[in-house]
Amino acid sequence: MDVEEGVGDGSLVLLKQGAEAKVFELNFVGRRSVVKERFSKKYRHPMLDAKLTLKRLNAEARCMTKARRLGVCTPALYAVDPVLHSLTFEYVDGPAVKDVLLEFGSNGIVEERLDDIAVQIGDAIAKLHDGGLIHGDLTTSNMLIRNVVNQLVLIDCGLSFTSTLPEDKAVDLYVLERALLSMHSSCGNVMDRILAAYRKSSKQWSATFNKLAQGAILLYCILGFALFRLLPVIFVFPF
Ligand SMILES: Nc1ncnc2c1ncn2[C@@H]1O[C@H](COP(=O)(O)OP(=O)(O)OP(=O)(O)O)[C@@H](O)[C@H]1O
Ligand SMILES: [Mg+2]
Repeated sequence: MDVEEGVGDGSLVLLKQGAEAKVFELNFVGRRSVVKERFSKKYRHPMLDAKLTLKRLNAEARCMTKARRLGVCTPALYAVDPVLHSLTFEYVDGPAVKDVLLEFGSNGIVEERLDDIAVQIGDAIAKLHDGGLIHGDLTTSNMLIRNVVNQLVLIDCGLSFTSTLPEDKAVDLYVLERALLSMHSSCGNVMDRILAAYRKSSKQWSATFNKLAQGAILLYCILGFALFRLLPVIFVFPF
């Protein structure tokens, strides 16, 4: 694709070059849009690469549309190009949740706004999960806040899949918990606020929370065991 300056008809502005896709802003039949083009990975066998790329493209298109049907806000899908491996979406004007939380981290938390964002995140994930949809990549970069209306919009469904298993839902929440802990610990316990909203919205919260707790216990056991095995080394070679 030709990358030009400015967003006129047909011209593209690179927004992000990720590991698997390039995201451009463009004008698509008079609408401000983004096009996400998945590129091939040279280190993968060409046949496997073509299969995987198409699988992710289809998963993203299908899950974005299904999420909307479940009442979760995602960008409108304008076009699918299986040859160029690209999807064209409505452009969402507004910051990523990541940037809002980083701003809170450096300039102080606006409690009301943080609460509103956490409630919207918990509510959106609950709707996805009750509808049997797993996002697969719940990070704060994959959530945008639409300007003016302050509405949460979920993006990046390339790893999404359908499942009704509480284990899959728990892993989805666990990924988000890790992302919040590693990037936004200065915002306090945002995950608790998200889980409270999830619990209110989801009819199946109990089974999911049980699996989430079991996963956490298992992780503590593994860490405890690893520390126990390391203790003799620490005593023999104190730092
Ligand atoms: N509909 C949209 N409106 C506005 N900006 C968008 C939109 N879709 C994506 N973006 C911007 O492009 C960035 C990358 O998009 P996305 O998360 O879909 O791709 P990615 O993370 O590279 O994909 P993948 O993880 O599948 O490789 C987003 O973080 C966001 O800043
Ligand atoms: Mg992303």
